[in-house]
Amino acid sequence: WDKEPCGKEVTVSTKLYKDAKDFYESVDESLHDDTVMYEVYSVSSQSEPGKLNWGLTVMHPVKVNGECNMTRGHFHENMDCEEYYWCSKGTGLLMLMDEEGKCWCEKMYEGSLHHIRSDWAHRLINTGDTYLKVVACWPADAGHDYARIEHSGFTYRVYCEGKDIIVKERRTNE
Ligand code: PA5
Ligand code: NI
Repeated sequence: WDKEPCGKEVTVSTKLYKDAKDFYESVDESLHDDTVMYEVYSVSSQSEPGKLNWGLTVMHPVKVNGECNMTRGHFHENMDCEEYYWCSKGTGLLMLMDEEGKCWCEKMYEGSLHHIRSDWAHRLINTGDTYLKVVACWPADAGHDYARIEHSGFTYRVYCEGKDIIVKERRTNE
């Protein structure tokens, strides 16, 4: 990855397990701190209104004590900015949450297209045993509000037990 035909530079950021531990219900001692959870390839150097950013998230098929690998998840700082996600490989869930804390999921599979309303928080979850690859396009002035998710997070957790996907409500004392 260097310069693409459009002249933009694609950069990659890597999320390791040590920086993702807090997302999960419990710590998995069998995972190395440097286990790669996901990579985001992006062209996100722009910030002026009217411009677009683009990204590809590659989620590794990792489980944390049975809990499926997920992105940190965020609202957009600019609540007027919506986003599209398009799944190019794998299977997963797109977890969404509105401002009242109502939480639900859309199934992701090769070719599924997802429209994320500007006031919805969003998180990717890899429920499969292969890579989940998702292409995203969002307005350059959207920004990422992670603090709001840390304060009042998604209300469900997703686990894999054999071939079954189990969705559990989060404990209220978390
Ligand atoms: O813009 C997006 O919503 C995506 O590109 C995400 O940033 C990406 O999937 C990584 O998720 P997060 O930023 O919540 O760690
Ligand atoms: Ni986003």
